[in-house]
Amino acid sequence: MNVLRCMAQWRELRTSLTGRIGFVPTMGALHQGHLSLLQASTADNDLTVLSIYVNATQFNDPNDFAKYPNALEDDLALAEAAGVDVVLLPDYEQMYADGFRYRVTENEFSNQLCGTDRPGHFTGVLTVVMKLLNLVRADRAYFGLKDYQQYTLIRDMCATFFMPTEIVGCNIVREADGLAMSSRNRLLGPESRQLAGRFNRLLAQAASDEQACLSLQAAGMQVAYVKSVGQRRCGAVVLGEGADAVRLIDNVPVDPPLQESDIQEASA
Ligand code: PAF
Repeated sequence: MNVLRCMAQWRELRTSLTGRIGFVPTMGALHQGHLSLLQASTADNDLTVLSIYVNATQFNDPNDFAKYPNALEDDLALAEAAGVDVVLLPDYEQMYADGFRYRVTENEFSNQLCGTDRPGHFTGVLTVVMKLLNLVRADRAYFGLKDYQQYTLIRDMCATFFMPTEIVGCNIVREADGLAMSSRNRLLGPESRQLAGRFNRLLAQAASDEQACLSLQAAGMQVAYVKSVGQRRCGAVVLGEGADAVRLIDNVPVDPPLQESDIQEASA
């Protein structure tokens, strides 16, 4: 496995690579969800590139950025075991040599759901993803459907700007109690972790968005939003208080609604 911190070196190497390239962009602290993306990429392509870059411009809260988990040594061991060929570890100076003067902004869907209480978040995401896709020039790039709004915006950005990489959405991987895998889960204290296991069911089993919101609040979660978009009910909650607060997102199919048995099957 080739681990590269210098993007000029990567661009040089890229010119010599042939065959189909799969790309998994991440912010590290890899978990089973990321591993499922790597598995899809290694199955579909000749080479798999993983990037680990905690992108400051997508954090509207500096505290959230400061406490984002970092587990580079473990990540590299997991990447190697998953069959990754190249790991890219760029830094801010290389990713934002322009000082973030140039940005990719979407003006409708990005202002809803997570965009409501995270202003500028999706501009940071779309900008860094466009830069990474241009750097890697992969045939396919893999994104988890837990971040459904992110996936939709990235897919549509690529279509809008005639970008050649195919965007592949991969199913949500869940813990045994239904909690969607996320790097943020490791920030949950024991009490919040237990409560987090109810998020998915309460979101899935309510008859309406309003009812889901009320059930989540009654369980002790602070609700940022619950809103159905197309065939999915999306939600964000905050668990814990002050510096220990952790924001989680999830989404479930609304038609037909998820049943208890579906959740157990999905959590294997
Ligand atoms: O989903 C993530 O981990 C990040 O938003 C991404 C796509 C790697 C961009 O920083």
